[in-house]
Amino acid sequence: MEIVRKPVIKPEEFRLISEFVAETFGLSLDADKEGYLTARISPRLRDLGLTTFAEYYNHLKFAPSAEERLRFISLITNNETYFFREQSQLQVFAETVIPALRDRKLRNGDRKIRIVSAGCSSGEEVYTLAMLILESGNFIWNWDLSITGIDIDPQAIEKAKAGVYNGRVFQSTPGQYLERYFRTSADGLQVRENIRSMTSFVQGNLLNLDTIFSEQEVDIIFCRNALIYFSAETMRRAIEGFAGVLTRDGLLFLGHSESLSRITNLFRPLHFPGAIIYEVRDDY
Ligand SMILES: C[S@@+](CC[C@H](N)C(=O)[O-])C[C@H]1O[C@@H](n2cnc3c(N)ncnc32)[C@H](O)[C@@H]1O
Repeated sequence: MEIVRKPVIKPEEFRLISEFVAETFGLSLDADKEGYLTARISPRLRDLGLTTFAEYYNHLKFAPSAEERLRFISLITNNETYFFREQSQLQVFAETVIPALRDRKLRNGDRKIRIVSAGCSSGEEVYTLAMLILESGNFIWNWDLSITGIDIDPQAIEKAKAGVYNGRVFQSTPGQYLERYFRTSADGLQVRENIRSMTSFVQGNLLNLDTIFSEQEVDIIFCRNALIYFSAETMRRAIEGFAGVLTRDGLLFLGHSESLSRITNLFRPLHFPGAIIYEVRDDY
């Protein structure tokens, strides 16, 4: 019987790969992630015929194309997501934020609305926002509205673009949304065209939103459950980048376990029942 030895990562190898991940993707791999990293990338070492993590590090760092780096990031990211995640925030978005945004835009004679989901994974958050907006009936005629999902993981972006889903991702989806906004396809339920036409997806790093959007172009950023993997310093960089592309009264939604206290004072918290939203400070 052939004994398959699992490669064991040495502290030095873990340090090199962590530094590479931080420099290239802005993600911090804490010291307790050794087991996680080993489990996620050992199969890839085997496929490549490599026996040590040092060899894999060299392969990653010095490979001429980005292909291995993108494959690697798909392996180590946590893509968990589902439709209608964190209901209380979405309720504030639908009932308070959307009508206020519409009124303000109309007052300013501006009919352009840009919403971003930074760390959108396979697209469920983007489509949820589009459904809530359509359902609200607020932006029907003559609005230039788009919701852009950005994720570093190319496989997640491909899935988001296809817009076909099954199973547990629908666990929180109200029945009327399933009926109105999905159609049955051979592989599952596909998001209907009226929702897809409001959305787009880009593979990219949320640390570089300024390469995708102009200064003060974005009205609202959702960045939920992505920054938990960032170091405090990288999180600060991300938030500063968000402040740069948001409009003067732009809003930021974070995941419920994420907070800006002790990170930055570029935003002020707005408190709602069951939800905190951050607004760009106009006095910074
Ligand atoms: C746990 S999912 C959260 C998805 C969705 N926002 C939600 O709350 O359901 C986190 C996503 O952030 C993405 N991500 C992590 N770091 C990123 C970065 N630097 N730039 C863009 N996306 C990133 C991961 O690939 C992953 O798909």
